[in-house]
Amino acid sequence: MEDKYNFSKLHNRNNTMSVKWDKCEEIFGKDDILPLWVADSDWPTAPEIKAALINKAENGILGYTFADQKVKTAVKNWLSKRFDLEIDKNWLVFDTGVVPAINFTLKAITKAGDGVVIQPPVYRPFFSAVKNNDCELIKNSLVIKDRHYKIDFAGLEKIIADWKDKKGDIKALIFCSPHNPVGRVWKQSELKRLIKILKRENIYLLSDEIHSDLVYPAYDHYPSLKIIDDNPELEAYRKKIITYMAASKTFNIAGLHTSYTIISSDKLKRKYNRTKNGFSSGNSPFGLEALKSAYNNGEKWLEEQLQYIVENKNYLQNFIENEIPAIKLFEQEGTFLIWLDCRDLNFENDQKLRKFMIEEAGVGLNPGIWFGKAGSGFMRLNIACPKKRLKTALIRIKNAVEKMA
Ligand SMILES: Cc1ncc(COP(=O)(O)O)c(C=O)c1O
Repeated sequence: MEDKYNFSKLHNRNNTMSVKWDKCEEIFGKDDILPLWVADSDWPTAPEIKAALINKAENGILGYTFADQKVKTAVKNWLSKRFDLEIDKNWLVFDTGVVPAINFTLKAITKAGDGVVIQPPVYRPFFSAVKNNDCELIKNSLVIKDRHYKIDFAGLEKIIADWKDKKGDIKALIFCSPHNPVGRVWKQSELKRLIKILKRENIYLLSDEIHSDLVYPAYDHYPSLKIIDDNPELEAYRKKIITYMAASKTFNIAGLHTSYTIISSDKLKRKYNRTKNGFSSGNSPFGLEALKSAYNNGEKWLEEQLQYIVENKNYLQNFIENEIPAIKLFEQEGTFLIWLDCRDLNFENDQKLRKFMIEEAGVGLNPGIWFGKAGSGFMRLNIACPKKRLKTALIRIKNAVEKMA
């Protein structure tokens, strides 16, 4: 590939206040490791976004800001163009992140003791959002069938039935689509089946779609809300779907803390905004400017970035299959976060696996256990970095594994 945007360039991110690079000592107890953990990318954002930010900085007036019609139109057009999803601009609420938005939603719709389902292994802040709101965490772990992660529909039905007998109703399910960390891009049929169950049981769907732009060529992201458009008999359930999206992972602008929440019910939107009152601040002028510019002008850059990520994914897949066969992979359908099945390395426990990656291999990965017990024996590796850096990491892991034998 031509690499017009120079994704291969090795940028030095040390001493840039980077969580991924400058917190290694704190997180891994060691400075000299190659970090491939936090879900951001090791390359600059799109030149169009950079230019918009420079322009804003040069203007120099950085007072309180809100998302105007131009930002909302950019979002609406992006969703229509990329996912064939039509939304009303009035459904949009702007937030400083998906994680706070999920927390606010639970605060708005639940009371203490309500049941909330999550599907581990899953992004850890889902666990804390439930606990932060004094709700009961109900785990319906994904299941592995034919080396493929699936939603455990039978498990979900059982949980709903048991909960009814014991405690009443389940209030919400937090859904990760595409799923971090296992890399599944949920199919239309899976989503429809899930939504039909949730509708029947009157359970809210909190649909975190932050990784939706980062899907591999053979797959399509299918927004939860689109199920309603495509199945008019489910229309009554639209008001129970809350969707979270952002340009943050897509364009490597997560540090600008800007996301948006899609709430079609006016009543719920008002409640949500009341709940946020006093607990959240508005968006930064840089965050909104970057979002607008990304969606209006960043598509070409995104396509090139996706190609680069796919090349990295293919490289990693080949390398692991041929050079480190003890580590197994799953069919990766999206996200730049690769889920490594390290169970055949036969470590006694997750602590030892983590220590091995840090001490012996010298790489900083996310331990699978961070995503819940269902992630035990796994590690998550971020491939949004120059190929050279990825190669170095893989060679380090290979050498460490060979030394162990
Ligand atoms: C599934 C998922 N949701 C949310 C986030 C973080 O969102 P934000 O930074 O907007 O709070 C991440 C970051 O890795 C993520 O993977």
